[in-house]
Amino acid sequence: MTLRSDTTDGVLRLTLDRADKKNALDQGMYRGLAAALTRAGDDPAVRVAIIDGAGDVFCAGNDIADFQSGALKGLDGPIGDFLWAISTFPKPLIGAVHGAAVGIGVTMLLHCDLVYAAAGTKFVLPFVNLALVPEAASTVLLPGLMGHQRAAELLFFGDRFTAEHAERVGIVNAVVPSDALADHVDERARALADKPLRSLVTTKNLLKKRDWDAVHRAMKSEAEFFVAGLGAPEAREAFAAFFERRAPDFRQFS
Ligand code: COA
Repeated sequence: MTLRSDTTDGVLRLTLDRADKKNALDQGMYRGLAAALTRAGDDPAVRVAIIDGAGDVFCAGNDIADFQSGALKGLDGPIGDFLWAISTFPKPLIGAVHGAAVGIGVTMLLHCDLVYAAAGTKFVLPFVNLALVPEAASTVLLPGLMGHQRAAELLFFGDRFTAEHAERVGIVNAVVPSDALADHVDERARALADKPLRSLVTTKNLLKKRDWDAVHRAMKSEAEFFVAGLGAPEAREAFAAFFERRAPDFRQFS
């Protein structure tokens, strides 16, 4: 099982559990997340959901082996189902991150309502360094949070940034000591579970509906460029370089 699910006292906790691959998301995990979120949206026993990760890292992004294999065909499939489910999840959704959050491990947080990070968590948006483009509507959600220049800096360079920077630019609500993250998130989730659900759901809907069309349009057009880019020689070089633990050589391509 690479995705654990537990509901206690109205709080659903979805835990990415593929620690040997730093919780890199494969097709089965996307499928599991999409199904769990879709079910939870309609389940009266769930009032709040949390996504967190097992092991020493929250999520290392999409499984790069799936980029290489040609398994990704666009939004028709498990990734598209996951993006739809997380972006339309009607109830409060909390991201709890520690260690590292990379690629979709960051962009999925843009669809959470609240995000808490353990001190020391590193964030990376490596799409350009993989010769790809950003996804999950991050090309509209990131500039919406922090402005064009700061979003461009994170996306163009793909450098690691700290949890404190993520908090400053609005990706994260608060940075908490590593050993306090689970308790802090539990406390916040229980506090929300005690509130009137219908009011929370309507508030979330009112907050999100302004951007609804732009978010789903962006997901669609990003996915077209993303899938087209997967087969490009620059991307093949970047994927090979990751597994060979070396820097990619993009200068060989004109
Ligand atoms: N896809 C596939 N495998 C991945 C992976 C990914 N996204 N991220 C990590 N792994 C695998 C590694 O290949 C390694 O496998 P191995 O033990 O069989 O060699 C294992 O997970 C451990 O990773 P490693 O890099 O050795 O761990 P680390 O602690 O040194 O670094 C990270 C952890 C998260 C910083 C690093 O793995 C990383 O940057 N991964 C992200 C890759 C990426 O660019 N993802 C975005 C895709 S859009």
